[in-house]
Amino acid sequence: METESIKNIGLRGVTVADTHISMVDGKAGELAYRGFSIKDLAQQATYEEIIFLLLMGSPPTRKHLSEIEERLGRYRSLPDEVRSMLECRKKEADPMDVMQGAVATLADLDPDLQSDDRNVVYNSCLKLISRFATVAAAWHRIRNDREPVELDAGQSHAASFFQGIHDREPTKEEEDLIDLMLVLHADHTFNASTFTVREVASTQAHLYASVSAGVGALSGALHGGANANVMRMLLEIGDKNNVEPWIHDQIDSGKRIMGLGHAVYKTEDPRAGILREVARKALEGKDEEKWFDLGLHVEKIGREQLRIKKNMDLYPNVDFYSSPILYGQGLAIDMFPVVFAVSRVAGWCAHYLEERFAEAQPKPALYRPKANYTGVLCEGTVCEWPGMDERFENER
Ligand SMILES: CC(C)(COP(=O)(O)OP(=O)(O)OC[C@H]1O[C@@H](n2cnc3c(N)ncnc32)[C@H](O)[C@@H]1OP(=O)(O)O)[C@@H](O)C(=O)NCCC(=O)NCCS
Repeated sequence: METESIKNIGLRGVTVADTHISMVDGKAGELAYRGFSIKDLAQQATYEEIIFLLLMGSPPTRKHLSEIEERLGRYRSLPDEVRSMLECRKKEADPMDVMQGAVATLADLDPDLQSDDRNVVYNSCLKLISRFATVAAAWHRIRNDREPVELDAGQSHAASFFQGIHDREPTKEEEDLIDLMLVLHADHTFNASTFTVREVASTQAHLYASVSAGVGALSGALHGGANANVMRMLLEIGDKNNVEPWIHDQIDSGKRIMGLGHAVYKTEDPRAGILREVARKALEGKDEEKWFDLGLHVEKIGREQLRIKKNMDLYPNVDFYSSPILYGQGLAIDMFPVVFAVSRVAGWCAHYLEERFAEAQPKPALYRPKANYTGVLCEGTVCEWPGMDERFENER
């Protein structure tokens, strides 16, 4: 039996399964969905096309695209049961907790929950993807004492999400900006939340159980919660003159600079490069441009000081510049991870299908890693359970 403590490397560099869905090359700074570079997809594909690409494996034809648009539109309404559930939540509830609860509620409403037919589960995926945006927008309004918006089935997913939040149609630029955010966040191989979804799927749990676990994993500060924390960091720093002392203090006290570093990329995250330029353009001349400029300065000084003080070469990740963009959209900071989730649900669904229907491996296998027990034993074996009188306070 191993008893010597092992270093917990958080599964870094450990390959756990094959996948056909997406590829990250951490050295080259490349991300591809089904073999297509994110740089091209960002310029040329819509989120609807990405959904089909991720879930079905190839770019949609015109017929596929109109089918998927029709189905997303058909499922777009807010079910009464979900609305009632949202109205019962505390207004101060964390929106990611609310989303997790809503996914569980949506499971009650899907008659195909236990289906073993891929086409049927694919359809449930479209229902979930469509309603994810509906629920997120409805919660934004309900918690601000406003009526949820009746959504138009004929709109694009991005336009309808925008309308659900702001109760007006977006301009073309606003719609394109949301669509791009959705395209960029849709998948990223075996990141923490996607691996969570796959792990739950491997137990043969249904789609909604798997995805709600993914929402929980995404909510953490080191994952999807980072975009909210980048904005909190920028607001705390407040002004360019405060950047240097703030960064020194942060590094010297062993704290992390949010939005910098990545578990896989050892060069710039391609999504960060795209979003830097998008943020520059989208915020130009607006009040929120201040936060973009401050972000540029934090990136520069943060990277310099991490190099000097910790000999680390860290680059901004996807969350760094998505943050001022979302702030510029007038969203509350705690809604930022929800926007991430509204996009990532497509990737989660694709990975659920791949895991469940063994599309990349010969058969599904239950994930079950091994742990090294370094806790109490008695002379190398299990201990005897002590009677009440034989126990001492503070023994452990
Ligand atoms: C994303 C992240 C978890 C990846 O980490 P990683 O490179 O795999 O490695 P670890 O978390 O083990 O960190 C390794 C070392 O780098 C340091 N480090 C990593 N990211 C850092 C950051 N943003 N600021 C300061 N130090 C950082 C850690 O403190 C640790 O230092 P130590 O060895 O002295 O304890 C990490 O970079 C991070 O926490 N970034 C900030 C949160 C964030 O933006 N998350 C979104 C990711 S898309």
